[in-house]
Amino acid sequence: MTSGPIIDARDVDYSLQIAGRPLHILRKVSLRVQPAEVVAIVGPSGSGKTSLLMLLAGLEKATGGTVNVNGSNLNAMNEDELARFRRHTLGIVFQSFHLIPSLTALDNVGLALEIAEPDLSMAAIREKAAAALAAVGLGDRLDHRPTALSGGEQQRVGLARATVANLPLLLADEPTGNLDQKTGAIVVNLMFDLARRNNTAVVLITHDPALAARADRVYTMTQGQFTETTSKIASVES
Ligand SMILES: Nc1ncnc2c1ncn2[C@@H]1O[C@H](COP(=O)(O)OP(=O)(O)OP(=O)(O)O)[C@@H](O)[C@H]1O
Ligand SMILES: [Mg+2]
Repeated sequence: MTSGPIIDARDVDYSLQIAGRPLHILRKVSLRVQPAEVVAIVGPSGSGKTSLLMLLAGLEKATGGTVNVNGSNLNAMNEDELARFRRHTLGIVFQSFHLIPSLTALDNVGLALEIAEPDLSMAAIREKAAAALAAVGLGDRLDHRPTALSGGEQQRVGLARATVANLPLLLADEPTGNLDQKTGAIVVNLMFDLARRNNTAVVLITHDPALAARADRVYTMTQGQFTETTSKIASVES
């Protein structure tokens, strides 16, 4: 971890060639996030929110500008370096939970920890994975496979998996999108609690204005362009 911002993305462009024509998905997007800060991104469907998250995770490459995360310039990294960067830097929570169906809750979380910290013993992995599941209220569901868990429980496993290695950044793409309001609120409260406890920075994509309002700062994505729409200072002044 470095002392600077955890995310420093500048003038990021992202375009793809579709049927021989360029499709501009992101245009000159800049985003700076400090360690332990919570930033929300809102905006219409198709505006580029998930695309930005993929660039921040090093899962896609920007076609212009610079993406620095945790002091690393992602544009300059090859696939192996990006994989290593991901393992040691960030967890991701997706809208659809993306758990491995054949593995129990404990092993889904344990696998993520093993990937982040390959030197840990199996006993330590199981102990920490069980603690991460207990922290999201699933201490009594360790041996359940995803099909034997409710949606909210699956998302809590997803959250435990994304936070078990205590990494400095959590990226969440509509983590409550598939949950009813009450269950979504439980998951989100857990996410904020875990992040605060671990000093984890969070970038949260959401369509829920009430959820976005709980972030330190909110950005709106509109047709690939990014504007900061609220800040604590602006809301105090208005
Ligand atoms: N691999 C791809 N090939 C072609 N077009 C793509 C690809 N990925 C994204 N797009 C397009 O880029 C635009 C932005 O997509 P993105 O998934 O980032 O939107 P979003 O803001 O996350 O939307 P939603 O709120 O619906 O999840 C969309 O118009 C989408 O169709
Ligand atoms: Mg999306």
